[in-house]
Parts: sequence; structure tokens; C-alpha cells
Amino acid sequence: MKIYKLMLTTAIGVVVAMGFGTGPAAAKGKLNYYCSAQEDWCQLMAKGFEKETGIKVNMSRKSSGETFAQIKAESRNPKGDVWWGGTGDPHLQAAEEGLTEPYVTPIRGELNGWAISQAKSADDKTIGIYSGALGYGYNADVLKQNNLPVPACWKDLLKPVYKGHVQMANPNSSGTAYTTLATIVQLFGEEEGFEFMKGLHKNINQYTKSGSAPIKAAARGENTIGIVFLHDAVKQAVKGFPIVAVAPCEGTGYEIGSMSIIKGSRNMEEAKKFYDFALRADIQSRALEVKAFQVPSNKAAKTSPKAPKLADIKLIDYDFKKYGSSSERKRLLKKWDDEVKSLAK
Ligand code: F6P
Repeated sequence: MKIYKLMLTTAIGVVVAMGFGTGPAAAKGKLNYYCSAQEDWCQLMAKGFEKETGIKVNMSRKSSGETFAQIKAESRNPKGDVWWGGTGDPHLQAAEEGLTEPYVTPIRGELNGWAISQAKSADDKTIGIYSGALGYGYNADVLKQNNLPVPACWKDLLKPVYKGHVQMANPNSSGTAYTTLATIVQLFGEEEGFEFMKGLHKNINQYTKSGSAPIKAAARGENTIGIVFLHDAVKQAVKGFPIVAVAPCEGTGYEIGSMSIIKGSRNMEEAKKFYDFALRADIQSRALEVKAFQVPSNKAAKTSPKAPKLADIKLIDYDFKKYGSSSERKRLLKKWDDEVKSLAK
């Protein structure tokens, strides 16, 4: 009897070891994950998904415009499965150009209206995962050391005293910088908006690749003012750097950070699993662990009192459909390259 029991237990042990176990170590497929948010948040999402599902995640992090360009370049032979994060405009452009796949998540009813509108305007080929307003941040110590006035408006950034003190990203690679260009055009009109961008160019010390780089440089004291999303400025302040976030007095634009499944994905089931996972309230609440202070798209996800409050900011009625359209995005970027970037300072 005892020997029989032992044999049975051993047999069960072998079955479990052969892969019928539920532990995260069991091989359960893979996911090629393109991420356009901050590195620490990208990692947190990858690790959390891997731990919960046992699916192996291969992650690649690039800015929004760069990821769009990569997906487009790979479209004949897609290598990515899911694209998480980054501003919504290039996700909308990818949808229009047929680079992404429609999917309706079962937990759509838990999301804020703006996240669902983003999906509806792209025939369900993308969806909103977070939102955040644009503005700028400055290093209060560096500002003082240079005897500079405190800026409060977009137009303040054109003042000659700020020459060499302002940094923003290149709108071709960065979604933050494209949102800046589209915001300025919507606020001031195209003609005046481009005059603004030309004036700003005179004060720019560097166009970076990534959207948040200018405020990280300001936090290190290597730059004075960075044009960024306000949540990226607040993150540096919460980390203890002397950064002050400014919501410009004229009003400002905002983003609907998005997620899309890549057309031709070779791991479609895993991509859909990740999509549902990323929209859950408990997963979106984890953003606070890495001080990501965007507004989450799941209504039940936690927010921090430190996060910028969109209701207190003068927001423009950002036309996502127009500025996320392929023709408009291409046209504005080319115009910026031709008329602004190439100007002598
Ligand atoms: O994760 C920070 C963040 O500012 C997001 O809110 C935004 O979608 C993304 O980075 C934009 O990054 P980039 O400007 O580099 O494309």
C-alpha cells in the first residue's frame, strides 16, 4: 500500500515537471513588445506581464515617432507584436496606414470616454491608455543663478534672455515635440505658429531624440527650461530635483497616450493578452511605483495627489483626428524641417 502511494505521488510529480504546472517558469509563448513610454515604466510592464503569464517578453524602447517609423519599415516582415505607450498621433497614423490590427477588449467598459473615442476614431486599431497635458518645466536654481525671469506663458520662451536656455525634442522622433508643434499651430494659427517655432529655434540649445530628455537634463543642471509633458516635469520634482512645472498661460495641448497591436503579429494571442492586461485598473495603478503621473484610462486605477490636474489646466480642444492623420503629420514635420530646423540661429 505504502509503495503504491509513493508511486502515485512520483507519477504526479513527473506530470507537473513535464509542463502541466501553473508556475510562471513554464514556457508559454513570447511577445515582442515595442514601448514608447519611459524606460522604467516599460520595464515594469514587461516584468509584470512576464511574471503573471509566463510569456517571455522581448522589449524594445524607442520614442513615439521612431517606433512608428520602425513599424512602417518592418511592415512587409513585421517583427513586433504590440506597441504600448507614446503619444496618440503616430498610433492614429499607423492605424490609417494599415500598420495596426483592430481589437475590442472585453474590459472596454471600464475606460474613460476619451480612451474609447481614441479607439473609435481609428476603427479599434488603437486605444487610449493614459492622458497628460503639455507644458514646460524649469530648474529654479539654474534660473536664479542666471538672473532669468520666471516664465509663465508660451510666448515668454521667445524672449532673447532665454537664448541657449531652452531645450525640446525633435518632433520627427518624439511624440512630445510633435504635440508641441501641433499645439502651437492650433493655439496661434499656422502662420503665427510657425513664426513662434522660428523664434523659439533661436533660443533652443539642442533638439533631443526623446521627449523627456530636456527635463532630465534640466534636473541634472545641464539645461534651464525643458518643453515636456507636465507629468514628466513633476516626476523630476518628486524625485527631489529643483524643477517647477508650468502650464502655459495661453492654454495648452495634451496627449492621449495609446496602445496598438501590430498588423501581421506572429504572437497575436499573446499580444491580445498583453492588451487586456495593460488596461486593467490594478496594472495601471502600478504606474505610481515608477512616478509616472499620467491620468490612467481605466476609471478605477489609482492616481496620485502629486499628479497634474487636467481640470485646473487651460486645455485646447486638441484635434486628434486631424493632427494624427497621415497627411497632416507628414506635412507639418516636413514644414518644420524645411522652415525651422534648417534656420541659422
Ligand atoms: O512616458 C513619458 C511620456 O512623456 C509619455 O507621456 C509620452 O507618451 C511619451 O513619453 C512620449 O515620448 P517621446 O516624446 O519620446 O515620443
